[in-house]
Amino acid sequence: MAYSEVENVAGYVGNFTVTVRKKARYVDVKECTACGDCIDVCPVTAPDEFEEGLSTRKAIYQPFPQAVPSAFVLNIDECLGNNPIACGKCLEVCDKDCIDYDDKDKLVDIDVGTIIVTTGMAVYDPTELDEFGYTRYENVITSMEFERLINSGGPTQGHLIRLTDLKEPKTVAFIQCVGSRSENKGNPYCSNICCMNTVKDCLLIKDHYPDVKLKVFYIDIRAFGKGFEDLFQRSKEKGAVYIRGIPGEIEEDPETKSLKLYVENTTEGGTECHEADMVILSVGVHPREDSSAIQKLLTLQRSQDGFFLEAHPKLKPVDAATQGVFFAGCAEGPKDIKDSVTQAGAAAARANRLMMQGKVSVEAITSTIIPELCKACGICVNVCPYHAISCDTEAKTPATVVEAACSGCGACSAECPFGAITMKHFTDKQIESQIDAMLEVDPQDKVLAFACNWCSYSGGDLAGTNRFQYPPNVRLIRTMCSGRVDKKFVLRAFARGAPIVLLSGCHFADCHYINAVHWTQRRVEKLWDQLEKKGIRPDRLQLEWISAAEGQKFATVMRAVEELRQKVTPEEVEHTKRVLKDVLEPPKKDPAKGKPAESESAASGVAV
Ligand code: FES
Repeated sequence: MAYSEVENVAGYVGNFTVTVRKKARYVDVKECTACGDCIDVCPVTAPDEFEEGLSTRKAIYQPFPQAVPSAFVLNIDECLGNNPIACGKCLEVCDKDCIDYDDKDKLVDIDVGTIIVTTGMAVYDPTELDEFGYTRYENVITSMEFERLINSGGPTQGHLIRLTDLKEPKTVAFIQCVGSRSENKGNPYCSNICCMNTVKDCLLIKDHYPDVKLKVFYIDIRAFGKGFEDLFQRSKEKGAVYIRGIPGEIEEDPETKSLKLYVENTTEGGTECHEADMVILSVGVHPREDSSAIQKLLTLQRSQDGFFLEAHPKLKPVDAATQGVFFAGCAEGPKDIKDSVTQAGAAAARANRLMMQGKVSVEAITSTIIPELCKACGICVNVCPYHAISCDTEAKTPATVVEAACSGCGACSAECPFGAITMKHFTDKQIESQIDAMLEVDPQDKVLAFACNWCSYSGGDLAGTNRFQYPPNVRLIRTMCSGRVDKKFVLRAFARGAPIVLLSGCHFADCHYINAVHWTQRRVEKLWDQLEKKGIRPDRLQLEWISAAEGQKFATVMRAVEELRQKVTPEEVEHTKRVLKDVLEPPKKDPAKGKPAESESAASGVAV
């Protein structure tokens, strides 16, 4: 669906409803033959976005030569045809009556089983890097602009010219890593594609213009793909000169418009000045500006660099954390054409595999609502990172969980103020029994630690297999996510005499349940306040983020909490047990009111 945008996505794996806005084209696509009569008469000109502003287009235009459908589109904001007195020329000349100034956007609902996100990326705008003079000198252009300039379908039909005098340049300089691998301006990561793009451009120029001198200024040339090193060597054999160092400044001769590049040559040492008729800034890539809208629509995660985060970097590299959603191409990270095509094939296969099965295996660990306790407050609806819970707060009907969408983090259960949600296999009663058992004998000598399955608990495993020593009095309770650790578990541990309680989970970007770890932090911060109000030292509750690869950190943290434990006095522990006595002996429920006396969620949840 060309010229359309996704407005909304509802539902879950196998059962998505996608609302698409088909934007008004003001041209009848079925009738338009792209004859171009309207273009000839249109009086409005605007920069051509596809040609990177190197040429102009009319207000009615074809977005790019191979656009599908091969029909025109009218930019109504630029068009004067809204006012027929002012214009209306395209309407007059169109034999097929394709022009419709009253066309409207249409919303279309589509039912789909799976979704593949292939939203691509954007290129870095080097305007902020004033040292390269991109906004001051016409002969300094970006690699994207050069791509159009050298393209046979581009504004110069592929002729290499410099923009100030439209003559063939004698020397062309490339500057690598513009907006990439930079801590101050641009992005800190490597954009992956720029080195080989420059190598390709060098070969292209040398094939067509063998006399043009080429200089490439670089930090490292990363030619790591299959056959890429060969290409790099070939470009050198053809005459491209690679100079290790990024120019600190570019100056233009106002007369000749040629450019001087001042650079520190880090291979040979010393500062050099190189002349060029044209400079191409090899710009990096970054996530699209509208990525956050897609993220919200599909409840996706993004890594620190802003690209969408896969469910697992090795085992599920094209899957999103949301079931039934997959990634391909640069939406997930910078990559070249070959990798994008490979990933697209993998994403299509993953999606197809699900749909061919016709059914999905749901997680064994999912949340379950206890309808008789649910007050339809709707808190769980906001907490759930997967939008798996729905609740009609006005009708006051109990919340419901779509099991196919629930991934089992348990954050809803921990946040429900009425104890109306429990987790299969990680019920309140099971976790409380573990707390009680671990603190049954000599609780003052123990450190009780909650660890999430995916990161902290695995970090503990790694510490074990690597033989990192940590105190033997640490008692670990595993939950699937740190978001499952209800505040009543922490208070129960203190009420049972634990001197120190540690809550540990994944680093923020690593939580396997989108953003469930945010609820952990929020809850612990509230708990610190509550403990302080009750006269309990807040630092007796520790919060740490430990990844599966941080076995050493796991051991260090355990040693640190053991040191803290030794500083907790018996008086403090006794005081804590006294003020938290109610946690262990909640007021009895009144059976006459129909509340199930058996529900462990209710029993401790309401009391706390
Ligand atoms: Fe580790 Fe969420 S999975 S904190």
